[in-house]
Amino acid sequence: MLQGKKILLGITGSIAAYKAVYLVRSLVKAGAEVKVILTPSAKDFVSTLTLSTLSRNPVLVDLYDEQSWSNHVMLGRWADVMLLAPLSCNTLGKMAHGLCDNLLLAVYLSATCPVVVAPAMDEDMWHHPATKNNLQLITSFGNTVIPVGKGELASGLFGDGRMAEPEEIIQFITERFFLTSPLAGKKVLVTAGPTYEAIDPVRFIGNHSSGKMGIAIAKELYKRGADVTLVLGPIGIPFSANGIKLVNVTSAAEMYNACHEVFDKADLAILSAAVADYTPSVKADQKIKKKESTLTLELTKTKDILKSLGEKKKAEQVLVGFALETNDEEKNALTKLKEKNADLIVLNSMNHKGAGFKHDTNRITIFGNKGEELRFDTKSKDEVAKDIVDTIIKTHYA
Ligand code: CTP
Repeated sequence: MLQGKKILLGITGSIAAYKAVYLVRSLVKAGAEVKVILTPSAKDFVSTLTLSTLSRNPVLVDLYDEQSWSNHVMLGRWADVMLLAPLSCNTLGKMAHGLCDNLLLAVYLSATCPVVVAPAMDEDMWHHPATKNNLQLITSFGNTVIPVGKGELASGLFGDGRMAEPEEIIQFITERFFLTSPLAGKKVLVTAGPTYEAIDPVRFIGNHSSGKMGIAIAKELYKRGADVTLVLGPIGIPFSANGIKLVNVTSAAEMYNACHEVFDKADLAILSAAVADYTPSVKADQKIKKKESTLTLELTKTKDILKSLGEKKKAEQVLVGFALETNDEEKNALTKLKEKNADLIVLNSMNHKGAGFKHDTNRITIFGNKGEELRFDTKSKDEVAKDIVDTIIKTHYA
């Protein structure tokens, strides 16, 4: 899989460094040539003897010792990919701000090869604005971030911040750097989540969408090398962008504007958001007081984002919509496909157990404007995202 590929692995001081031992073994087993650099604090977590034995190369820690100087420039030029796993908060901060107080950072700053990082930290550190800024900075330098997982953390707490598993890291770098994905470099717009339509300063009309399906699609596209912009409605929990360009919006009107800003330059758009169809005609400036025994709200139709993008779609752009139905599923989905000028429509029926809002699973059928019809079993939303992306590739990029 990675036969003859040269991987420079940087390990920083984090409990997750124990996984880097297995990562080195798996990289070598996959055929890669591996050289390991440790930060001084990583030495407290893993042994140089283990890593040099598994990598079959000396492990480097210092810029120089009494006898020799490590040529950091040549190390960065030797590698096909520089991988930092685990990446601690401390090294992330130094990378973002160009600090250079150890060999690993000197190699990073002089590396000419692609750099990919697998962060590992506790949830509160992961969600700190400084961490977010630093991740955004290194992404803007062209570095790639492998998404963190959710699970048990070194602190004993449960949450975001776990380093991706070694198998996931190997799959990620293989797909991203060594397989030519048909979506590599393609600009993709994804919408996800609900929209909230304000009634007054404290109330809104919304829906139960969790955004999980669209987020899974955005992550899958990113893994396949696409340049992804995610326009995300209010899902109520923080979402870490992890290399995906994130535009947070609240209302249908904001989502409409954000999508139109991105769509002209997009190759592909996948609209999975549950956009409100109606919005209060007037938003009260002050909290509406309870007076009468009934209250009537006048609602106005929102602009249909998918339809409006379908109207301006150029021949080379691919547009994918969703249809959430409770009855006459197929007929309604096919009508939406045609009326909104989409290339594909993903149908989820609320009648299937495990499909639709809030579930971690989904069951879909995809219809294409050339008569394609693909049915899938109930699967996790991550697997459904893979099916959707595979279908888009098969029908439009193969
Ligand atoms: N959609 C949109 N803008 C809207 C409403 C819907 O872009 N204002 C998109 C959704 O993101 C989805 C598709 O249109 O990709 C279908 O959404 P759905 O809610 O199933 O259908 P509607 O067109 O809203 O029609 P209805 O609610 O009558 O079924």
